[in-house]
Amino acid sequence: MPSLEELEKRALSVLDNAYAPYSGVRVAAAVEAEDGSVFLGVNVENASYGLTICAERSAVASMVTAGKRKLRKVVIVSSTEEPLPPCGACLQVLVEFGDRGTVVVSISAKSGKKKMWRLEELAGHLFSIKEIVQGGRGAQS
Ligand code: THU
Repeated sequence: MPSLEELEKRALSVLDNAYAPYSGVRVAAAVEAEDGSVFLGVNVENASYGLTICAERSAVASMVTAGKRKLRKVVIVSSTEEPLPPCGACLQVLVEFGDRGTVVVSISAKSGKKKMWRLEELAGHLFSIKEIVQGGRGAQS
C-alpha cells in the first residue's frame, strides 16, 4: 500500500499538467483504490468555465475506468498558498465511491501546509445511495 508521502509525490509529478489557463490554480489528485492501486488526475478547465473538471473527479474517473470502485485515500496537491478542500461537486463524487473513513489529504505545493480529514467530516450528510437505500446499488453495479 502506498504511503501518504508516496501519494503526494505521485500527485506532484503531474501538477504541471494541470490545464488552468483561466483561474491559474493548478490542482492534482492521487487516489488510492482498495487494492492499493493509484490513479492520478488534474484539473482541466474550459473557455466555457462551467465545464471545468476538478482534479479529484478526473482521478476518480480514471480509477473507475480501470475497474476499481472503492476509494481508500485521496491526496490533493495545489499551487495555492493554502491547501484546498474538495469542492461540493467533488465531495458528492467521493461519497459515491468512498466511505466515512476515506482519508482526504490536501497539501499546498507552494507553502507545504497540509490538512487532513476523514470523508465523514467533509461530507457526513451528503446524499449516499449506499446509506439511504438498504441494499442500495451504490458503487457495486
Ligand atoms: N479545483 C479542483 O481541481 N479541485 C477542487 O476541489 C477545487 C477546485 C479547480 C477547479 C478550477 O480549475 C480551479 O481549481 C479553481 O477553482
